[in-house]
Amino acid sequence: MARAQTIHVCDACHGETAKWQGQCPHCGEWNSLQARVVSAASRTGQASRGPSLVPTTGAPATLTDAMQAAAAEAPRRSAGMAELDRVLGGGLVTGSVTLIGGEPGIGKSTLLLQVAQGVAQDVGRAQVLYASGEESAAQVALRARRLGGDYGHVQIIAQTDLDGILAIAGSAKPALLVVDSIQTMALTAVPNAAGAVTQLRECTAALVRFAKETGTAVLIVGHVTKDGAIAGPRMLEHLVDTVLYFERDAGSRFRRVRAAKNRFGAANELGFFLMQENGLREVRNPAAIYLSRAQQPVAGSLVMVTRDGTRPLLVEVQGLVDPSRLGAPRRVAQGIDSGRLAMVLAVLHRHGGLGLQEHDVFANVVGGLDIDEPAWDLPVAIALASSLRDVPLPPDLVAFGELGLTGEVRPVPFGEERIREAANLGFKRALVPKANLPQSPIPGIQLLGVDRIETALARVLEPRRAATS
Ligand code: TYD
Ligand code: MG
Repeated sequence: MARAQTIHVCDACHGETAKWQGQCPHCGEWNSLQARVVSAASRTGQASRGPSLVPTTGAPATLTDAMQAAAAEAPRRSAGMAELDRVLGGGLVTGSVTLIGGEPGIGKSTLLLQVAQGVAQDVGRAQVLYASGEESAAQVALRARRLGGDYGHVQIIAQTDLDGILAIAGSAKPALLVVDSIQTMALTAVPNAAGAVTQLRECTAALVRFAKETGTAVLIVGHVTKDGAIAGPRMLEHLVDTVLYFERDAGSRFRRVRAAKNRFGAANELGFFLMQENGLREVRNPAAIYLSRAQQPVAGSLVMVTRDGTRPLLVEVQGLVDPSRLGAPRRVAQGIDSGRLAMVLAVLHRHGGLGLQEHDVFANVVGGLDIDEPAWDLPVAIALASSLRDVPLPPDLVAFGELGLTGEVRPVPFGEERIREAANLGFKRALVPKANLPQSPIPGIQLLGVDRIETALARVLEPRRAATS
């Protein structure tokens, strides 16, 4: 057994020093060093460098052999909900560690209890251990009763002592271990209170070691405040295999799970759920869940077709342009990048003939979604122009397209798929980049292909021309 030793770790930069000092020698922060006991082996071994899925020794193999071995080695287990399986990249991977972050009350415990049940009811009836450090066994049981279903293979342990939980998990050998939440867990070897940075890190590292050694899939809950500032999940992201964020829009019953990092699948994949009286229900066709707009034509509002990881998604974008009463006009962007909004405004000015220098400009994606693809350029530009000129936009129109600095409308990936989804949802007209026009017409939807911003503005903001085109 390796000898234990004490080191000091900085809360701010995670730098390590042998002796305690008032100031961190790495980042200069004061009073940030915390004592931490580690075994000499973990200092020199893998643990201190974070987990590794791949054995680091051994003879080189061809990638073809390694690929076959990897495919055989990473069996997946359904999490019981297809939407979640999709975000995970096809299910829970044996021996993987997944962190689920989200604000308190969003439904993390509900989701994981449903997953626990789903895994336990899956073929083979795997054992699940649910460790709750936040709620008593009775409280979890009440939630389980509300959700309904069979919990015969789900064991519950209400405890915050992670050594104890790992000991129980070590003998119970569950297929899935749920830890709710990492902020309540503590290892006795670490002197800090539960929730302290060192404690969070060491507990996560211990869970990662456990997962890799036993092949148990581990799901860890981590609380995040609205601004994401609290020390916690963000700091743990690099330790785990997969990081999911559970998000919602204020007041909405819809929830989305976003893969921020995924060693076994695509990042930025989204899964959609609806919070109901008896738990979360998956939304299998989410394309239209953000559409709530009034059916009358209004100025400054337009539906665009964006994409989550792999599916088209229709969202309303809004623009408001108002004469500024301040010396420096305001530019406020929600759900889109404000730097890129400035570019769109410059393109509107130079190539669309719209002067917005003396106007406050607000642009918003309805539903709280963040769109990080340039396909919003054209719809936002049109919404802003429509607001400035006070010309209503038809409610059956959708748009997408990227704008270039010279005023050109550039194509975006998966154009035809976006148009088809809009047609499926009953939209009658689509303003799209010319280069995205499909080779044959799509039934039910009239296509307006444009390659310049000025043409786009003319086609939708001059009703007579649009009507006859
Ligand atoms: P919870 O899973 O406890 O959130 P978290 O673990 O992220 O803090 O869920 C909290 C909210 O969800 C709570 O306000 C009640 C609501 N809820 C439902 O609407 N339906 C349900 O079936 C359950 C179990 C909870
Ligand atoms: Mg909870």
